[in-house]
Amino acid sequence: MLAKAATTLLAASSALAALQVDLESPDSIKAAARQVAYDLLTYYKGNQSGMTPGILPGPPPAGDYYWWEGGALWGTMIDYWHYTGDTSYNEVTTQAMLFQASPPQNSYMPPNWTASLGNDDQGFWGMSAMLAAEVNFPNPPKDQAQWLALAQAVFNTQASPDRHDTTCNGGLRWQIPLANIGYDYKNSIANGIFFNLGARLARYTGNATYYDWAVKTWDWVEGVGLMSESYDVYDGAHVEYNCTDIFKAQFSYNAGVFLQGAAFMYNYTNGSQIWHDRVTGLVNRTIEVFFANGPIVEVSCELEGKITCKTDMLSFKGYTHRWMAQTTQLAPFTHDLIMKTLRNSTAAAVKSCQGGDNGRQCGFRWTTGGYDGLTGAGQEMSVLAALSTLLIDQIKITGPVTNGTGGTSVGNPNAGGDPNPFQPHPPATTADRAGAGVLTAFVLSSLMGTLLWMSFGWGETAAAPVRRKGKKLVKVPRIRTEMVEVLS
Ligand SMILES: *[C@@H]1O[C@H](CO)[C@@H](O)[C@H](O)[C@H]1NC(C)=O
Ligand SMILES: *[C@@H]1O[C@H](CO)[C@@H](O)[C@H](O)[C@H]1NC(C)=O
Ligand SMILES: *[C@@H]1O[C@H](CO)[C@@H](O)[C@H](O)[C@H]1NC(C)=O
Ligand SMILES: *[C@@H]1O[C@H](CO)[C@@H](O)[C@H](O)[C@H]1NC(C)=O
Ligand SMILES: *[C@@H]1O[C@H](CO)[C@@H](O)[C@H](O)[C@H]1NC(C)=O
Ligand SMILES: *[C@@H]1O[C@H](CO)[C@@H](O)[C@H](O)[C@H]1NC(C)=O
Ligand SMILES: *[C@@H]1O[C@H](CO)[C@@H](O)[C@H](O)[C@H]1NC(C)=O
Ligand SMILES: *[C@@H]1O[C@H](CO)[C@@H](O)[C@H](O)[C@H]1NC(C)=O
Ligand SMILES: *[C@@H]1O[C@H](CO)[C@@H](O)[C@H](O)[C@H]1NC(C)=O
Repeated sequence: MLAKAATTLLAASSALAALQVDLESPDSIKAAARQVAYDLLTYYKGNQSGMTPGILPGPPPAGDYYWWEGGALWGTMIDYWHYTGDTSYNEVTTQAMLFQASPPQNSYMPPNWTASLGNDDQGFWGMSAMLAAEVNFPNPPKDQAQWLALAQAVFNTQASPDRHDTTCNGGLRWQIPLANIGYDYKNSIANGIFFNLGARLARYTGNATYYDWAVKTWDWVEGVGLMSESYDVYDGAHVEYNCTDIFKAQFSYNAGVFLQGAAFMYNYTNGSQIWHDRVTGLVNRTIEVFFANGPIVEVSCELEGKITCKTDMLSFKGYTHRWMAQTTQLAPFTHDLIMKTLRNSTAAAVKSCQGGDNGRQCGFRWTTGGYDGLTGAGQEMSVLAALSTLLIDQIKITGPVTNGTGGTSVGNPNAGGDPNPFQPHPPATTADRAGAGVLTAFVLSSLMGTLLWMSFGWGETAAAPVRRKGKKLVKVPRIRTEMVEVLS
């Protein structure tokens, strides 16, 4: 597929010029960002008749993109508006964010997407809602869900005892429904997003309960070894092994989500030493691992000879750029180092954009000085993120607001509803028996999962394999990581 795409695109590339931008000029950055935003939104069909609002085409096999990437797209567009002031996509963004919130609970757990519903998937939508509150993105009509309450709903469902158990000493699992493959995996992105949301809600609302959860989550991640002493952030581990089988692949968004969260903690604690040190460590290590030669490289799958990144992974660079940029506002002592790094990376990113068979397109590799033909919504999002965040320095972009410093979003500390509507709750009187049954079920399901992966030759994988069709369960593998290829 890649080879075919490459030839088609090679033919078209001579017809369309590369993206031209002067990174010293705000107007030039805005013009380039506007172009890429337009190109990005050509992937979005949710506002056309008969299509589902909020999502990118998918999930596989119906299209390339899992449900969560829609949430990531709207966060990117909210930042785009914040940095550029271009309101062109605000309406479509609001419609998308509210539609997928899934009223009346409004906690981003639509029944349609149960089969790929991880804590991280839900959390990506929650972080976009939180961002909308922090940048004063225009509030939805009063009779609809509000940004802050949406983020609180996601947080509350994830803080519920239903989502926490004693395997591995705590932490969130990757998947929410027990039937999903990956339910037995506790990983950095699920816990990183929960940490990140806790830190941000603490700062926005001033409620220390969120802060306490964030501290507890950080401590667990460190304690179990998902984050090393030198601030390497690993992917995850399985409950059958008490999380001792740590899968050490490093993905940039894992580092980024903890870095941004730590910056909020630093800011919330008025510049405490402990969070200063953690921010410093994460900035340092993130740059060393992912920006070793200038432009960001998704090192675990963007290999020298080949690219093994799945669609999900092709979008991580943009989140990392966005979260690093915001870190500079909350922890200003990181500003010079981070912005120097992001500017260098962005200069390389724009060179990856040239003509494609779908208009102008951006590629995935930013290290070649040209277009690699591997394009998609994630790649467009990443270049858009890289461009728009540079405006943080070019024009006066204020840091994230709080309820006390100009934030206007209305919250609801009790938002969320049922955290786990996917399986019947066992009656209290038979809790022990039911507990044992649940345990057996998940051991069995993870065993089946393991066999399934093995028979397809996938080493490590992840999310979302059970799709409900009527009452029948159909396994649909959702692969995030191919250990075999990653390690080769
Ligand atoms: C859908 O949104 C895109 C991007 O904002 C816009 O170009 C297009 O006109 C919209 N389509 C409809 C039918 O509203
Ligand atoms: C769920 O799927 C149905 C059927 O395709 C669709 O009509 C509805 O809009 C979807 N809802 C969400 C929240 O995606
Ligand atoms: C603080 O947040 C917690 C957790 O969501 C909530 O239970 C509590 O009511 C909140 N306190 C206030 C004063 O809003
Ligand atoms: C599981 O690992 C935790 C540390 O993450 C440790 O405290 C606990 O004792 C271990 N449990 C078992 C049963 O080995
Ligand atoms: C930060 O400083 C403000 C103003 O002095 C104070 O009200 C607040 O409690 C401090 N926050 C923390 C977490 O120490
Ligand atoms: C917290 O963030 C604000 C801007 O968002 C910044 O002005 C302030 O200096 C930061 N606080 C610390 C302790 O760095
Ligand atoms: C990270 O820290 C090490 C040790 O202090 C230092 O040598 C290195 O230059 C730092 N890297 C970056 C990117 O700041
Ligand atoms: C980006 O960084 C690399 C490696 O540090 C350096 O060789 C290159 O000159 C830098 N490029 C720009 C445009 O600053
Ligand atoms: C947020 O600010 C509004 C208006 O300033 C105030 O009425 C409300 O109580 C505040 N909410 C919290 C959670 O502090």
